[in-house]
Amino acid sequence: MKMWIVVFLAAFVAGASAQSCSCETMKWATCDGTPCTCFVMVDEGVKQPLNCSTLIPKCFLMKAEMYRAKKGLSTRTIGGKPDESAFVDNDGIYDPQCENDGKFKAKQCNNTEECWCVNSAGVRRTDKGDKNLVCDKLVETFWVRLQLTHKPVTTPVTAANLKAAIADAIHKRYKNFNKDLVQEVEYDPEARLIVVDVKKAKGERKSDLSNMAYYMEKDVKVLPLFKNQDKFSPQVGSQNLEMENILVYYVDEEPPTFTMKNLSGGIIAVIVVVVLAVVAGLLVLFFARKRSQRYNKAQQREMENM
Ligand SMILES: *[C@@H]1O[C@H](CO)[C@@H](O)[C@H](O)[C@H]1NC(C)=O
Ligand SMILES: *[C@@H]1O[C@H](CO)[C@@H](O)[C@H](O)[C@H]1NC(C)=O
Repeated sequence: MKMWIVVFLAAFVAGASAQSCSCETMKWATCDGTPCTCFVMVDEGVKQPLNCSTLIPKCFLMKAEMYRAKKGLSTRTIGGKPDESAFVDNDGIYDPQCENDGKFKAKQCNNTEECWCVNSAGVRRTDKGDKNLVCDKLVETFWVRLQLTHKPVTTPVTAANLKAAIADAIHKRYKNFNKDLVQEVEYDPEARLIVVDVKKAKGERKSDLSNMAYYMEKDVKVLPLFKNQDKFSPQVGSQNLEMENILVYYVDEEPPTFTMKNLSGGIIAVIVVVVLAVVAGLLVLFFARKRSQRYNKAQQREMENM
């Protein structure tokens, strides 16, 4: 009888520990052994060890996504500016070069000879150049603006309620992310638009805004990166807000050095209109001249007949 209890208990303990050997912060991780260790494949035969008690660095996540896309595995991936120098990620995902600790290398190249410099969020902040391009350091992103749209609600919410709710949700969901960094929340009820400014002091190197923002981007746009597939849904009063859209702006400690970064859609449209107007003007001139030539010829003929 006693032996049975021991066997039963042993089985129970083994089952429990097997169950706890999994990676809460990365659903694609493989975990094994005692003590439990986890890794994610980032290239053919390359296992990236993970610390699953914290958010996985974005650089590793992007590598894992690229690898999965290559292997045909499922990834389900594919306000306005907070500051004059803010920019969004227009390039999307690439296969990045990571440091051992998961930081992005300052210089990234796109397998070809094309290279560019990135910020600490891995987002391009310079023009693309050739492989001789020099990026002297990784410039830190100290401010991200998250522009979220929420699904319709039954009871109206207010900006003040939202701020506390969102700061709490971020703190809980993204592994104790410092909620004091959620500095400002603006709200437009008509557009269901929530603008969240997450900002740290320049020079601060403890909090990583980019990992948090990346997890949130995936939470809203695709599916959570977490093992647990619960949605990101801050509780405001008695209701849970579901998000349906997100746009992330990055502000770096030093402004980016794109050329023509202001050549936005609006300006391009103006240029197109001006070019069309000039072409139309030239056509009018051309036909007018032709007509006057014909008129002159006709006059000449009349003169000759006379
Ligand atoms: C994993 O991350 C946690 C939280 O940041 C940290 O306390 C711990 O030391 C890390 N473990 C390893 C093995 O690096
Ligand atoms: C890298 O190359 C891929 C295709 O080769 C392209 O889709 C992507 O936009 C490029 N990324 C950058 C940052 O140039």
